[in-house]
Amino acid sequence: MRRLCSVVILIAFAISANAGDPDILDDFLVPPGIDINSVTRQYFTFTGLRDMQRVNYTGKTESIVRRVTKKIFPALEGLGVSVSRTFYPPLSITPPHYHPRSSELLVALDGPLEISFIDTRNKLFVQTLQAGDLFVIPRGLIHFVNYTRGDCGGGTMGIFGSANPGTVTLGSTLFESGIKADLLAKSLQNR
Ligand SMILES: *[C@@H]1O[C@H](CO)[C@@H](O)[C@H](O)[C@H]1NC(C)=O
Ligand SMILES: *[C@@H]1O[C@H](CO)[C@@H](O)[C@H](O)[C@H]1NC(C)=O
Repeated sequence: MRRLCSVVILIAFAISANAGDPDILDDFLVPPGIDINSVTRQYFTFTGLRDMQRVNYTGKTESIVRRVTKKIFPALEGLGVSVSRTFYPPLSITPPHYHPRSSELLVALDGPLEISFIDTRNKLFVQTLQAGDLFVIPRGLIHFVNYTRGDCGGGTMGIFGSANPGTVTLGSTLFESGIKADLLAKSLQNR
């Protein structure tokens, strides 16, 4: 009995260690109510990033992010991939955040920009990327960007191994979620 128990536990671990988007048993999925025979190449096409080439960033000091997940591109459902396209105004930042369900492969389309992440030992990794460089941010770790160019804006593409990686931004999670201010103050003092 004891032996059987540990086998069951081992299997449970093996399954949970492989946590990613679930596999699907079809080539691709279509939303409920859509006939798969009606699907054309348009279903696999997303054109909603075209305007990222001409963002109006007047007065903005924070990056402008468009997350292309299964929520706005339903064809991604079940395929385990998604992207985020970010535009950086000159001397702008992306505030600290993390993605609970995926690592991120960041592609610098312009540069230089400074990417940082912090691991679970509280070790800070800071790297300066030039246009064309890639940088990987392990799943669930807090990261942020300082776009250090002052003469023009620039962009990045984040590539995810999940159709819905999720984003938790520390500032809004802590200060805009309704946690009582006195509890928060006490918690932060005690770290
Ligand atoms: C860009 O945004 C600024 C500030 O919101 C606005 O004043 C300006 O008219 C916009 N420019 C264009 C070309 O839309
Ligand atoms: C971002 O980089 C610029 C240029 O290197 C630097 O002056 C600025 O202090 C940095 N900002 C932050 C918040 O680290």
